Amino acid sequence: MNFHTIIEPFRIKSVEAIRTTTEEQRRKAIQEAGHNVFLLHAEDVLIDLLTDSGTGAMSAAQWGALMQGDESYAGSRSFYRFRDVVQKLTHLKHVIPTHQGRAAERILFHTILKPGDVVPNNTHFDTTRANIEVEGAEALDLVIPEGKVPSLVHPFKGNMDLGRLENVLKERGDKVPLVMVTVTNNSGGGQPVSLENVRGIRALCSKYHKPLFIDACRFAENAWFIKQREPGQADRSPRAIAEQMFSMADGCTMSAKKDGLANIGGFLAMNDDDLAERCRNLLILTEGFPTYGGLAGYDLEAIAQGLEEVTDEAYLRYRIRSTEYLGERLDAAGVPFIKPTGGHAVYIDARAFLPHVPPAQYPGISVCNELYTLGGVRAVEIGTVMFGLKPDGTEVPPPMDLVRLAIPRRVYTQSHIDFVAEVVLEAFRRREKLRGWKFTYSPKVLRHFTARFEPV
Ligand code: F0G
Repeated sequence: MNFHTIIEPFRIKSVEAIRTTTEEQRRKAIQEAGHNVFLLHAEDVLIDLLTDSGTGAMSAAQWGALMQGDESYAGSRSFYRFRDVVQKLTHLKHVIPTHQGRAAERILFHTILKPGDVVPNNTHFDTTRANIEVEGAEALDLVIPEGKVPSLVHPFKGNMDLGRLENVLKERGDKVPLVMVTVTNNSGGGQPVSLENVRGIRALCSKYHKPLFIDACRFAENAWFIKQREPGQADRSPRAIAEQMFSMADGCTMSAKKDGLANIGGFLAMNDDDLAERCRNLLILTEGFPTYGGLAGYDLEAIAQGLEEVTDEAYLRYRIRSTEYLGERLDAAGVPFIKPTGGHAVYIDARAFLPHVPPAQYPGISVCNELYTLGGVRAVEIGTVMFGLKPDGTEVPPPMDLVRLAIPRRVYTQSHIDFVAEVVLEAFRRREKLRGWKFTYSPKVLRHFTARFEPV
């Protein structure tokens, strides 16, 4: 069909009301939350773009699968269905369920890392970085230089800088127990990694005898970008592309709260028998028996079903197009954001949005607070508050101060997206009035979750 409107490729069977508040109510709510949107009551939020993690809508088939859950403590039928689906997708031998992505990270890193080790990645997500640093190791970000320039258009801004990776492997190889690559690169703007780049990383890992682990949270969205943008890939299915990407890895960590289309869950998978045994032993200590890993049988069913739905072409076309559409609306008004638009989110460039607010006064917090007070839209700062605090307690602003508008999967309609665009444009019109912020409370790790602020 030759029509331009991209429609949601589903109809809605069940609805959940959202609550409109007045600007005065929102001012009071954000003040009580210490001007940190993480501390708001979700009921006071109209459109919640805090995260795309665990916030998606399950399909009728997933709700049906829940009833098939086998809640046996050990050897549940649901585990074997889950394991088979993951193995068919990833071609990895050992599949270890976990309650979410960071549990997979903790188990992997606690098992494999020693103090002083180094883990290269394109860009580590905050929990990945924190789980590496807590082991006394270093999380090294090696994204290509283009990946750090918000306005620069490049088809695969999530790619890793292969030259820098080789230098690290050559000079500090004895300290590198594994190499990771995050698809899509969440902290760098939801930008994809090409098959060619993963092939290059794989070749270096083989040359220096290092295992390659994929942080696979958004593997299906990444596969869609490859289909759209990588020469020679247009006629392949996203599923075939995803399988090829996994086939180059020795393992993966996964948060099923993203491209698993589930509200909770994750897994760790790998080929190495000995490593898998050590990880399972830790899993038993902290998560649960290896056939449920902290999840209910019905969660395993929902994830298995979600992993089969997520590579559907009609779904991915709508998903990525809807995010891109929001980017187009902002672009038309000159709002600065990371180009091209990411897969699961639009990332506003808060430093360019508010050039009069220095990174040390957290321009991302200003933008988030304004979007909330103006329109009840909740976004998240990915910048100096989230990433600026170093293990030694000093503050060093990261390359970018961003505000992420993350789109939950299958939850909001096109008119919700139009409303969000209107709110962002209004905030942009008022930008000169916005001021900076300072901490009134700043915890020592993952401070963005519970920090409190007051105006400078
Ligand atoms: N890796 C990446 C790239 C992520 O984006 C996340 C979570 C994780 C790992 C951890 O997974 O939440 O299941 O423990 N990202 C969410 C977000 C929280 O909002 O981007 P988890």
